[in-house]
Amino acid sequence: MASRSGFSSRIGFIAAAAGSAVGLGNIWRFPYETAQNGGGAFLLLYLICTFLIGFPIMVGEISLGRNTQTDPFGAYKKAGNKNWGFVGFFGVLCGIMILSFYNVIAGWSLGYFIQIAFGDLLSQADFGAYFGNFVSNEIGSIIVYAILFMLLTAVIVVRGVQDGIETVAKILMPMLFLILVGLIVYALTLPNSGKGLEYYFTPDFSKINIGTINSAMGQAFFSLSLGMGALITYGSYISKKENIISSAAIVTTADMSVAFLAGLLMIPLITFQNPDPDFTSAGPGLVFIVLPEVFASMGPVLGKVIGATFFLLLSVAALTSTISLLEVPSSYLIDEHKVKRPVAVFSLAILIFLLGIPSLLSQGAVPFLTEFVSYGGGPKDFLTVINDIFSEIGLPLGGLLLSIFISTTWKNSKMSEEISSGNSKYIGSGMETFINVTIRYISPILLGLVFITNLLEKLFDVSLF
Ligand code: TRP
Repeated sequence: MASRSGFSSRIGFIAAAAGSAVGLGNIWRFPYETAQNGGGAFLLLYLICTFLIGFPIMVGEISLGRNTQTDPFGAYKKAGNKNWGFVGFFGVLCGIMILSFYNVIAGWSLGYFIQIAFGDLLSQADFGAYFGNFVSNEIGSIIVYAILFMLLTAVIVVRGVQDGIETVAKILMPMLFLILVGLIVYALTLPNSGKGLEYYFTPDFSKINIGTINSAMGQAFFSLSLGMGALITYGSYISKKENIISSAAIVTTADMSVAFLAGLLMIPLITFQNPDPDFTSAGPGLVFIVLPEVFASMGPVLGKVIGATFFLLLSVAALTSTISLLEVPSSYLIDEHKVKRPVAVFSLAILIFLLGIPSLLSQGAVPFLTEFVSYGGGPKDFLTVINDIFSEIGLPLGGLLLSIFISTTWKNSKMSEEISSGNSKYIGSGMETFINVTIRYISPILLGLVFITNLLEKLFDVSLF
């Protein structure tokens, strides 16, 4: 087989894949989803979705990528046929659309870091108003931050898998972990942290319904970067000697741990600020409104240090994720259309930045985009609509189609053979049975259910349960 330049080591792949997984999804989204959806009960559901469905799908993606040595479109074509190529292409499209709005939020994080570290953000009187004004009126600044973030991403991706993605991930991931643990140690010493922990660890099962299951599954897919071929792409860059099962297990555990730790950081900070908060009212503003309030209350010096550190952490986590989101369409252009890497990366970066403009303007700046369409109980802004279509619906659909593809076309036996390279005891093991049973039966049923109920609820306003 033609050799393909890729990750130089197992650690390099694990750092990059964990970097892709760990992102805004873990630190910005997971804590408020958990707070809204019943604390411990959601945590439990999320754990089940991650290990029962997420892990086997991750193994499937990585092995398909390594087997075919190409981008998602090429991978489905090569292991299947032309028609299946469309599924890979849909994944590439999801990547483009997810990055378009993800980059906007990553830009906010970078902006908050800069304005806390070098400006006077923390001396505001009303952080809710500040955030509202930031995203709806300071269009010039948020465009600059979004450009900066996309540029930073492109400059890394253009250097290639080994010199760019791998090198950066190996530095940023340990740094992220250290910052996170440092912040948690501090948060746990604050008054009332016990109250927050109680909410976090006590499952309220009455909160579980089809909606929370969908949210947990959507969160697991988004957080693990599954369902659009990011791990097909990264998998195409690893060697045949690598043990796919153990690598995927490490990446899954790392991702879940960071989400768990982000909750462990955020929830005590909330109860420090207000001992009896209404957790269910937490939303996307949690990180940008509640946290700056907490940082401000720590005094001008400590607040600045802890606050700037936190938003640096958030930006770093986002960066290793935007890298993977940009690598997928880039690898598509490079592998399928023989475009040179620099041309592919920079033209995609510009295109995706432009596609993100309506999302950027949909947080209050332009009324038409802010109340773009109405479904699921009210008007939705453009960013939310794109997120609903391409991540909430698109990613579980991608996982569903991958499962069907493996069972019907590529065949589980071919996948087992691929996995057994680098893991000689795999065939015949309990792990093989678990992976095959999940991909053949459990995942199509559960993901099918999630896909249908989400589609009906989000786009057609029909609630089945
Ligand atoms: N997993 C990242 C996060 O949690 C986001 C992300 C990066 C992603 N690459 C992806 C999501 C691919 C879906 C697909 O923030």
